[in-house]
Amino acid sequence: MTDANAHPHVSSDGRFAIVHNGVIENFAGMKKFVAGKGYTFTSETDTEALVNLIAYHYEKEPAAKNGNRFLDSVRKTLLHVDGTYGIAVLCTESPGEMVAARKGSPLILGVGDGEFILASDVSALVSRTQNVVYLKDGEIVHITPTGFTITTADMADVAPVIDRINWTIEDADMGTFSHFMEKEIFEQPAALENAMRGRFSEDQSTANFGGLNLTPSDFRQIERLQFCACGTAWHACLVAEHLIERFARIPVEVDYASEFRYRNAPLHRNTLFFVVSQSGETLDTREALREAKRKGYKVMAICNVVGSTIARESDGGIYQHAGPEIGVASTKAFTSQLLIAALVALYVGRMRDMSFSGGTQYVEALKKAPDLVRKALEQAPRIKDIAKRYAHYQDFLFLGRLSLFPIALEGALKLKEISYIHAEGYPAAEMKHGPIALVSEKCPSVFFAPKGEVFSKVVSSIQEIKARKGKTIVITTEGCELPAGLADEVITIPECHEAVLPIVASIPAQLLSYYIAAELGRDVDKPRNLAKSVTVE
Ligand code: F6R
Repeated sequence: MTDANAHPHVSSDGRFAIVHNGVIENFAGMKKFVAGKGYTFTSETDTEALVNLIAYHYEKEPAAKNGNRFLDSVRKTLLHVDGTYGIAVLCTESPGEMVAARKGSPLILGVGDGEFILASDVSALVSRTQNVVYLKDGEIVHITPTGFTITTADMADVAPVIDRINWTIEDADMGTFSHFMEKEIFEQPAALENAMRGRFSEDQSTANFGGLNLTPSDFRQIERLQFCACGTAWHACLVAEHLIERFARIPVEVDYASEFRYRNAPLHRNTLFFVVSQSGETLDTREALREAKRKGYKVMAICNVVGSTIARESDGGIYQHAGPEIGVASTKAFTSQLLIAALVALYVGRMRDMSFSGGTQYVEALKKAPDLVRKALEQAPRIKDIAKRYAHYQDFLFLGRLSLFPIALEGALKLKEISYIHAEGYPAAEMKHGPIALVSEKCPSVFFAPKGEVFSKVVSSIQEIKARKGKTIVITTEGCELPAGLADEVITIPECHEAVLPIVASIPAQLLSYYIAAELGRDVDKPRNLAKSVTVE
């Protein structure tokens, strides 16, 4: 990143300024063309080619066809663009006006009190207004001091739909916390309550989803589920795979969205797709959704951001209702995805082998999740203390089994992305097939070793690490006896049902990463090289 490449970019005639989110794929040809017309460049960006092309069209055609030369020059330029963009453009000759457009990248117009705001994410504008227009691909908005109009690239008028964001200014305020990530970790009991509200059937034996747009008998035809997502949301899909296969006995496939879209996977006829995305704007996930739809499959979305592109393009879905997640590292959105995964496992399970009483017990267990998370959060002071002692290590291993293997991956990802410490997640039993070579007194291991069917197996894996002088931080169930000398540090979580365990076990991993990063003075909410929603390929 350099100052020269930072936005806004200005056309070399000084007339236009632009901010751009996306990638212009044919920018080299565009740059050559405008350079041939005398426009010059000061950066390496594709955006500068775009703004110079707007200036070129403005200069070339002084008489506007639709009565606005500024709007017309942007529209003309966009006809030549291959790639993705969310842009906002200013023109020195039209003060008080702005032209913005999107294709592939998100763009939202906030309709405030005497002001209009453009943003790629609602959390950026919720402090000014809750009234928004979610612009669609190919739409161009022209803002003037008195109002705005929306048109398509071929000049058709679009009647704007003003939606209301159900988040408030307080949601976007850090309050007494030091970082949004910390606030969001502590908001998880409430986020889980919101994710489950209204989602249990009247007889309390199964789940209830309002937005799937599938009848129970449609669902009954489904023989496989396919999940696609990226990053943390992909980890949530791995937990979904475990829970759905365990409780509903239906095969589940999980793909990275970025791989799915290119690997032309053979798919079973009766497959139902789920894409999972907090932001609902991740480009790879959206493209996986589109690919599945092109192949004729129905796609459900699990999203947090209401009205997001993925939510709108899917055939149905389940909103997370976790509230705005502002810290780049996902926390409350992740655990609410885990809760929804557990609800889907219940729903499909009850259509198959799960009995009425099995369902009611499962529902009772899920209802306890917020309180169990509250309990797990009580360990925060102890985890902060551990973090202080471990913050100087350069490498960590996170090890878990079954549904906690994805939580080990997630713990490692959290630590890497916010503290810049190298960390890897593995299934605990895989250590002996290679990673154990990394173990020394310089590489601590974080083990997930709750009470359960593989507890003794995980204990053996911890012994393997101790025998090689590795430090061990063991996350285990309250009251669980660990052999003496096995754990250098113990963090306890309350005992819980298998469907709730991944949620509760995530809490200490999040806190550990957060406190290590805070101890190191990292920019926790905005880690280097990362963006909250990844709208480029
Ligand atoms: C990590 C993190 C990312 C996102 C990923 C997908 O903490 O937040 O790995 O999970 O970029 O984002 P969404 O869920 O918005 O599609």
